[in-house]
Amino acid sequence: MRKKIVAGNWKMHTTPEEGLVLARQIMDTAHANEHREVIFFPPFVHLPTIQQEVSVSPLFSVGAQNCSDQEKGAFTGEVAAFMLRAIDVSWVMIGHSERRQYYQETHAILKRKVDQAIAHQLLVMFCCGETLQQRQEGNFREVIRKQLHESLFHLDAEQINQVAIAYEPVWAIGTGQTATPDQAQEVHAFIRELLQQKYGDSVASAIRILYGGSVKADNAQELFRKPDIDGGLVGGASLHASDFVSIIHAAE
Ligand code: 13P
Repeated sequence: MRKKIVAGNWKMHTTPEEGLVLARQIMDTAHANEHREVIFFPPFVHLPTIQQEVSVSPLFSVGAQNCSDQEKGAFTGEVAAFMLRAIDVSWVMIGHSERRQYYQETHAILKRKVDQAIAHQLLVMFCCGETLQQRQEGNFREVIRKQLHESLFHLDAEQINQVAIAYEPVWAIGTGQTATPDQAQEVHAFIRELLQQKYGDSVASAIRILYGGSVKADNAQELFRKPDIDGGLVGGASLHASDFVSIIHAAE
């Protein structure tokens, strides 16, 4: 059985002190369970503190929201994968729609980021998902297929085991308009089918596929009960301890 993941993407919110308070509140009230794990994705400057906080917990781990597509060198303002590894960060998020949309991260850039992460033994939370227009035009399958094939599916079967995929329809992010459990399940099953075609049954059935986009305490359970939805990548609701803990408890 796949272990569910509940991940909190804090985006560009909270001071390091506020982030620490938030993480502690969540860690103090969330119940451990062998069927789930929890990842905090705070801003970069929080990472050493939050990493230290979660290091004693079997339930929690920490990830960065981004990494450079370059190994090291004269790239002002960038943070390299090896630096994240050096402070024991476990995960890195790659391909979030906000990075694609606002920072022009192309398939080729994301592929290089994936390679950096894998080379430095980071686990990858790879995000994909279609815009509202792409959904209305009916070609969301092709959009997702291309996102996966161009930036992720060059990995071999062993490397892809270091990856979890987050399906985040852009029209559902921060809008309060969640995909229905059936809509999400349809796309998750499609992603698993793509994995199966490329890597075979055992890899496809082991990889976790998370849903993201307006996951809340009152819709998480219904989403997480779908057979191909292995947890959630949560934005807004991950900044409120009690809401996020309810979402964690919905992952059974
Ligand atoms: P919301 O949960 O705020 O819609 O954000 C989703 C998201 O982008 C998580 O990465």
